[in-house]
Amino acid sequence: MKLAELEIRNLHVSVEGKEILRDLDLDVEKGKVHALMGPNGSGKSTLANAIMGHPSLQVTEGTIVFKGEDMTEAGPDERSRAGLFMAFQYPVAIPGVSVSKFLRMILNAHREARGEEQIKIKDFARTAQEAMELANIPKDFSSRYLNDGFSGGEKKRMELLQLALLRPEIAILDETDSGLDIDALRTVAEGVNKLVGPEAGILIITHYQRILHTVKPDFVHVMFEGRIVREGGPELVSRLEEKGYGWIREEVEAGASV
Ligand SMILES: Nc1ncnc2c1ncn2[C@@H]1O[C@H](COP(=O)(O)OP(=O)(O)OP(=O)(O)O)[C@@H](O)[C@H]1O
Ligand SMILES: [Mg+2]
Repeated sequence: MKLAELEIRNLHVSVEGKEILRDLDLDVEKGKVHALMGPNGSGKSTLANAIMGHPSLQVTEGTIVFKGEDMTEAGPDERSRAGLFMAFQYPVAIPGVSVSKFLRMILNAHREARGEEQIKIKDFARTAQEAMELANIPKDFSSRYLNDGFSGGEKKRMELLQLALLRPEIAILDETDSGLDIDALRTVAEGVNKLVGPEAGILIITHYQRILHTVKPDFVHVMFEGRIVREGGPELVSRLEEKGYGWIREEVEAGASV
């Protein structure tokens, strides 16, 4: 049997004593596009944070296994170096750190973890330029402070830039499409598509079908009250778009009362 690259089993996660994820199972396969959908407050961002090892969350039960290694107790740095990447729903500003410096810092941190030397200035310039072109970020951004005064759409493109630079094996994109105008959405979606390949998969969290027209999901997972309750192919997206989440609630409640 083929093992999934990321395997989550019976995950229970609490925040400040309140259980938010319960009995959650999810497999993310190598090089595939997975879409995660679900109503507001169903726990999508919490799941993304739990996969990345956010310190404010307590895993009370279950396991997160990445490439056969149990990462349930690993710190966020270790997960990131192992090849997981998360683009945040609300990216933070880091005043005093330029985009260029930030990119070099994260790239070198990853290289160090792999036992490689710091990147040479010349190589960095080329790598950063390629990544900036892919994310459609104007050159003058490299000297600006990270996310400081960036518009919503510019922050989203910055996430894509980090992704292009780090080339993680699994990227988790939390509402990368929210607040983007039509052109920016296309740029981000096409950029994501360029990065997806046999060695790189994504888990894309979204409320809308739009981005999934370009970034075509192989699998769709629907979250409801802290669990994955439905899984399927792209047809599930159109069904949700048409019918909303009411039928999921009805099915889950009918199932629970049996
Ligand atoms: N720090 C916290 N303290 C208390 N409750 C929290 C905390 N973080 C998350 N929650 C709760 O956990 C539930 C799931 O939140 P989460 O942000 O994961 O939902 P979501 O599916 O990402 O929603 P959205 O679609 O609105 O982004 C919500 O009811 C939220 O209020
Ligand atoms: Mg969310």
